[in-house]
Amino acid sequence: MSEVVPPEDLSSAARLIKEHSGKVLAFTGAGVSAEAGIPTFRGKDGLWNRYRPEELATPRAFESNPKRVWEWYKWRMSIIARAEPTWAHKVMADWERKGVLMGVVTQNVDGLHQRAGSRLVIELHGSIWRTRCTVCGRRFDLGFGNIPEEDLPRCRECGGLLRPDVVWFEEPVPMDQFERAERLFSEAEVILIVGTSGVVMPAALLPINAARQGKILVEVNPEETNLSSLATIRLRGPAGEIFRELARLVEEDLSWR
Ligand code: APR
Repeated sequence: MSEVVPPEDLSSAARLIKEHSGKVLAFTGAGVSAEAGIPTFRGKDGLWNRYRPEELATPRAFESNPKRVWEWYKWRMSIIARAEPTWAHKVMADWERKGVLMGVVTQNVDGLHQRAGSRLVIELHGSIWRTRCTVCGRRFDLGFGNIPEEDLPRCRECGGLLRPDVVWFEEPVPMDQFERAERLFSEAEVILIVGTSGVVMPAALLPINAARQGKILVEVNPEETNLSSLATIRLRGPAGEIFRELARLVEEDLSWR
């Protein structure tokens, strides 16, 4: 463990996960994919330090220059296509298979949770591996790693311009996905907050409301965040390394189940 995470914090977190097995939910952000080489949005090296979101991730940006927006998304797709799930993605998928973790509510669009084997993944901000027709509204799954060739991909049904099926700034989160996420949060007893700055609404309302309802939050993040004060335990380190250690501690005495 390159960062010094107090072992007592790790064992307390592992104990909470065992004691609440089956009622543990993960809420993830860009930081969970950082060790896979996928840039985050904020903090050092964040994408929003180098690019202006209003030029690349808003409906107006797409309307005024769809070619530039597609270029940026295809660049991000090329980085993600080469990325492998981190230990954190893999441990969450393993814990879901074992009935420890309910599933994942993610703000990420990279598809790495599914690639690691997670089955219940709610993508609040859509998927970079799906397109949507701006005319007829049809959605098309590209499949992980399949980057459109055309500069301006077209709908095969109506010929309309396709856009990435992700949620841009100034756009609402799909209500059906948000309501599914709310139901999962209401059933959960422990929420693992992994790799998110917790500044984007309404996604961040989910852990904030969970804390208000007295649920236990465990934060996994090398930095202090908007949600840190709500966390019972703060594991200050990289998610991949921390989940690898948590997996060892949770598995230590299988008899606990
Ligand atoms: N392990 C865990 N956390 C990490 C790691 C790591 N290895 N590296 C960085 N982080 C943390 C950072 O400290 C930061 O708190 O990940 C967080 C990333 O924060 P953001 O870049 O703001 O990403 P996120 O919170 O997911 O952003 C939410 O903003 O731009 C929109 O739609 C976009 O879904 C995104 C939303």
